[in-house]
Amino acid sequence: MSGAPEHDAVEATKEDSILTEAARAARSSGGGGGGGDDARANGGGGATLRTDKCTIRFGGLVAVNELDMDVHEGEIYGLIGPNGAGKTTIFNLLTGVYKPTSGEIHFQNKRIDGLRPYEIASRGVSRTFQNIRLFPSMSVLENVMTACHIHAKQSLFDAVVRTPRFGRDEEEHREYCLELLGIFDLARYKDEGGTSLPYGNQRRLEIVRALATRPKLLLLDEPAAGMNPSEAMDLMALIRKIRDRFGLTILLVEHNMKVVMGVCERIQVVDYGKSIALGLPEQIKNDPKVIEAYLGD
Ligand SMILES: Nc1ncnc2c1ncn2[C@@H]1O[C@H](COP(=O)(O)OP(=O)(O)OP(=O)(O)O)[C@@H](O)[C@H]1O
Ligand SMILES: [Mg+2]
Repeated sequence: MSGAPEHDAVEATKEDSILTEAARAARSSGGGGGGGDDARANGGGGATLRTDKCTIRFGGLVAVNELDMDVHEGEIYGLIGPNGAGKTTIFNLLTGVYKPTSGEIHFQNKRIDGLRPYEIASRGVSRTFQNIRLFPSMSVLENVMTACHIHAKQSLFDAVVRTPRFGRDEEEHREYCLELLGIFDLARYKDEGGTSLPYGNQRRLEIVRALATRPKLLLLDEPAAGMNPSEAMDLMALIRKIRDRFGLTILLVEHNMKVVMGVCERIQVVDYGKSIALGLPEQIKNDPKVIEAYLGD
């Protein structure tokens, strides 16, 4: 269930850069998504997220192989497959940690493959990590507030001199973060160390931090890992709730089949980097190719 350990260090360094680079987005774009600066070909179509024959090779290994995805706006879309199938690598491609060897990625009709992680984040794509990435020296609230800076309006001058604008911005962020923590029943822990929370709550805190960037597309990488059955069921309800409340599109990677089948509207199955099935939960459950992929795991 855990990712390939030998690559964790590489991924940690690259993925962590998303958080630090996100802050740069505020400066380079003035904060906020959209951005009509991308002059490359418009993929068209009704999908909010689309990949077109997306491929990445690591030496001789084709980790993601000509993957086509078509995720609709507002959908809760499951991405499943056995260990090592390429799910986390797909998230790394979608968030700019990796650049595809070939193929294209489009988000809201703009091509995003090749963009830097902070540029993709500033267009409204946010994620959680399979291996929790909270800042150990920060409180619960501070962990969430770090993510808000992607939309900060203040300049470096405002921050250094602590101008009224800086104060207003911080207060606005704080209130928004506390509201998010409240939705996840975490507000009462706001002053505790983020990493001192029980594991299930740390996972929920990661989701809150991802939401603090006010994303349009949220990628969740095994959010139920390590949760007990009742926590996992609560999480399912929360995923639906945040989709409805914030008008999100959600891409969910998860091994807990109860959660996947319970919350996803469509599911795509990958095996050895290739898409082997796509359909409604009922169809996927009974698909012989899917059953074989899992039994062979
Ligand atoms: N940076 C890298 N360098 C070399 N190989 C890599 C790298 N990142 C991933 N891989 C390989 O790509 C394949 C897919 O890995 P990935 O972590 O995406 O799988 P996964 O579907 O997320 O698995 P799990 O369910 O265990 O988390 C694996 O064989 C992995 O070893
Ligand atoms: Mg993974």
